[in-house]
Amino acid sequence: MAVYLDDVSRTFGEYLLLPGLTTKECLPGNVSLKTPLVKHRTGEKSQIELNIPFVSAIMQAVSDDGLAIALARNGGLSFIFGSQPIASQAEMVRKVKKFKAGFVVSDSNVKPDSTLAEVLAIVKRTGHSTIGVTEDGTPNGKLLGMVTSRDYREGKDDNNTPVKEFMTPFSKLVTGKVGISLSEANNIIWDNKLNTLPIIDKDQNLQYFVFRKDYDSHRENPYELSDPTDKKLLVGAGINSRDYMERVPALVEAGVDVLCIDSSDGYSEWQCDTLKWIKKNYAGKVLVGAGNVVDAEGFNYLVEAGADFIKVGIGGGSICITREQKGIGRGQATALIDVAKARDEYAAKTGYYVPICSDGGLVHDYHMVLALAMGADFLMMGRYFARFDESPSKRLKIGNNYVKEYWGEGSNRAQNWQRYDSGGSESLKFEEGVDSYVPYAGKMKDNLEITLGKIKSTMCSCGTIDIRELQANAKITLVSSTSIVEGGAHDVILKEQS
Ligand code: IMP
Repeated sequence: MAVYLDDVSRTFGEYLLLPGLTTKECLPGNVSLKTPLVKHRTGEKSQIELNIPFVSAIMQAVSDDGLAIALARNGGLSFIFGSQPIASQAEMVRKVKKFKAGFVVSDSNVKPDSTLAEVLAIVKRTGHSTIGVTEDGTPNGKLLGMVTSRDYREGKDDNNTPVKEFMTPFSKLVTGKVGISLSEANNIIWDNKLNTLPIIDKDQNLQYFVFRKDYDSHRENPYELSDPTDKKLLVGAGINSRDYMERVPALVEAGVDVLCIDSSDGYSEWQCDTLKWIKKNYAGKVLVGAGNVVDAEGFNYLVEAGADFIKVGIGGGSICITREQKGIGRGQATALIDVAKARDEYAAKTGYYVPICSDGGLVHDYHMVLALAMGADFLMMGRYFARFDESPSKRLKIGNNYVKEYWGEGSNRAQNWQRYDSGGSESLKFEEGVDSYVPYAGKMKDNLEITLGKIKSTMCSCGTIDIRELQANAKITLVSSTSIVEGGAHDVILKEQS
């Protein structure tokens, strides 16, 4: 006979937190959102700790190098999507590792023989008025000069004038050498009253620009998640259980810090094989998470196979139709509570703490703090990040509203069939995700400030100033459907919202 579980599959919207004693110490400014990312001995520190408990979903519409840089600069971590050729995924990882705050690879470059008309076209396309003049017109070619808007008069000068006639030539440029720090670069900028400092290598090849206007940007990112020794941003990448023997070496070579096997159903021998192969061949070189699972059995299986963290959640993602298509899954809150219990039992039994990640279905900001209180060490989100400027998808105007595109990895658009692969015939394919829009929300940093502010405020109401304390002391209650209605504005006539 089938096994029937006694509990009901529940999700975050069915729970609330009760306040605890808010002591005078409980101020949002005192709250730490640091959290472990990977397996460690209980009582010790995890090799990687996130500064905010957020990671971005392993999805084409979410996690490319641009979003990964933005999120790491704000204290979280991205897993670059794996549903792309190995070389392009490795290149994205490389770009994140190469990123240096304040050091910008020039996206506007011309050759000395290019014309003013070409300069004007580039300025229009990129919106950037500082242009590198390199021998071959590439971002890293030999630097021969620079053009800014002070070098020509649009509308007055002949558009056919070659760049070499009006550029500031190399001999008159102040430059910095590769390897200098941002503060050294800024000192040169101040001492010489420059707006831009080109950074060159020993062969005079342009490497970066440092801009005066970016002077404050590093100080605006106190939570930046970087390697303490080489200061490079941390980045993760998604892998699958089919081509891992080729993909993992390329990603490690590119400098990836942590991998995650990406599957809608991770409780499989395929994931076990993948984990064992990585641990055998890359132990000490890269860390690897696995999933997704929704119960203790799945958790214990993948932990025994060597996973460094476990991802929880099947069917709760905003773009997900797995439950409708296959009838598998579990309410996200119930799954998380069950797996958190298994993690704590495993830690008590073995002395090893294996962090868990709640993946998908986090809609409101309060869901995030509930998930943390229920035991999640960190949260993976797709929809949340897809809405921001930094996500790779297109922004469109529909009616009076701006939206961004957001599509599931199991949709026909992404065609990430490995994620839904059960090891059998390649031809057995059906969609488990949809192609959709999400409301455009602007800059990541502004949104994170609000979300994290709310989380910290709730934690203070619960009388806690770190995630461990929240997990240990939170009081959580189920709510009836009637009291859910009571939770929003009710029995009033709302004034029209602007
Ligand atoms: P969201 O934050 O609710 O949008 O959920 C994002 C999560 O949904 C991802 O991290 C994946 O675990 C999952 N996901 C991504 N694409 C699909 C899909 O096409 N079908 C089902 N689940 C998906």
